[in-house]
Amino acid sequence: MGVRMLCGVALSVLLVLAAGASASHPSHSSCPATPPDAGGTLQVSHAFGPCSPLGPSAAAPSWAGFLADQAARDASRLLYLDSLAVRGRAYAPIASGRQLLQTPTYVVRARLGTPPQPLLLAVDTSNDAAWIPCAGCAGCPTSTPFNPAASASYRPVPCGSALCAQAPNAACPLDSKACGFSLTYADSSLVAALSQDSLAVANDVVKAYTFGCLQRATGTAAPPQGLLGLGRGPLSFLSQTKDIYGATFSYCLPSFKSMNFSGTLRLGRNGQPQRIKTTPLLANPHRSSLYYVNMTGIRVGRKVVPIPAAALAFDPATGAGTVLDSGTMFTRLVAPAYAAVRDEVRRRVGAPVSSLGGFDTCFNDPAVKWPAVTLLFDGMQVTLPEENVVIHSTYGTTSCLAMAAAPDGVNTVLNVIASMQQQNHRVLFDVPNGRVGFARERCTAA
Ligand SMILES: *[C@@H]1O[C@H](CO)[C@@H](O)[C@H](O)[C@H]1NC(C)=O
Ligand SMILES: *[C@@H]1O[C@H](CO)[C@@H](O)[C@H](O)[C@H]1NC(C)=O
Repeated sequence: MGVRMLCGVALSVLLVLAAGASASHPSHSSCPATPPDAGGTLQVSHAFGPCSPLGPSAAAPSWAGFLADQAARDASRLLYLDSLAVRGRAYAPIASGRQLLQTPTYVVRARLGTPPQPLLLAVDTSNDAAWIPCAGCAGCPTSTPFNPAASASYRPVPCGSALCAQAPNAACPLDSKACGFSLTYADSSLVAALSQDSLAVANDVVKAYTFGCLQRATGTAAPPQGLLGLGRGPLSFLSQTKDIYGATFSYCLPSFKSMNFSGTLRLGRNGQPQRIKTTPLLANPHRSSLYYVNMTGIRVGRKVVPIPAAALAFDPATGAGTVLDSGTMFTRLVAPAYAAVRDEVRRRVGAPVSSLGGFDTCFNDPAVKWPAVTLLFDGMQVTLPEENVVIHSTYGTTSCLAMAAAPDGVNTVLNVIASMQQQNHRVLFDVPNGRVGFARERCTAA
């Protein structure tokens, strides 16, 4: 119901504000050429930005429509992450199945097979899966699937192998010796062949990279690109490339408004910042794919807002705590934590409040002064400047706090630090040393 209500809000905002708002979108032909990937560094682009490699159709028709779409998408992402965090929790009636594969927020380029076939992969820090839409897939919307038949190095993973045993719901049909597997979530299901081929990213080649070659997607449409799972589980890209990259990566996520293709995903220990503030990673043995950190408080301006300890506490048994996620766009806090932040922001701004597209703390006065918001982690503080805290409407007259509570009527236990709050920072995931680092880095113009 929460998602449906948000969609209702989304639609009305879209209708009210769509007229004229598209003027802010440049034509795709004015986008700068993509710089090459080099070393272990890949260019990252926003899937919904004006210069998305998924094409102009991926961009929302207006700024307000975009916001509303994102709020609805985040609500379903949050329920999905929450269902990952809490064992046995199922949101089938509420969450759509689209998060099974993930609609992308950020994408990178890669090449698969021999000779190499180009593809786009969604960067997902909360996922262990490696999915690629394959030729002949029924229900996959991609126009450029990977074609295993055209690759000399493609191998199906055989039934009975150790790898096959790790795949979810592995099945070996009578007419096939190849390992197949499937996933079902809400109204969607996926069937894939566990496969191996050479994956080239930037200047590196991952030989015998194991991935799910998608053969059938039903229910909510599968996205048009593959998935690069950067979680810590055994089949993730990160685990498969441990020998090359040492389970270490960092990214600087570009603003979705930027035309420049200048965010980066840096794989491996080379070139990572040496001096960077860090906080320990917390391990949830039930959910190895999520990057839990210990958020101990939030400051608005200079004031630490009153958040009950239970709203932030890490609990591997219930899945409660705080995760960093690249696939959620706007930070979501459990209800009491969000209320404390929102109330102090409203008090500080002191102007009449309105709402817009799923965001409840907006101001129509362009002159309002926003306080900085500081996320307090164990051993690290991250002060977010206005660009990470505030979203501005197309004409710059309305601005909103770029955070929200859990979807209506759903008692989630997760706080999710999302991409808007991470953009224009270098965020380091140093798994061997069990830490996450943050440093301000301007990787795109606003
Ligand atoms: C989180 O940090 C606080 C303050 O440093 C500490 O008291 C608490 O034990 C930490 N929690 C975990 C799960 O490490
Ligand atoms: C893109 O980057 C170039 C150089 O870094 C800069 O001159 C230009 O203004 C940027 N354009 C946009 C739209 O951000």
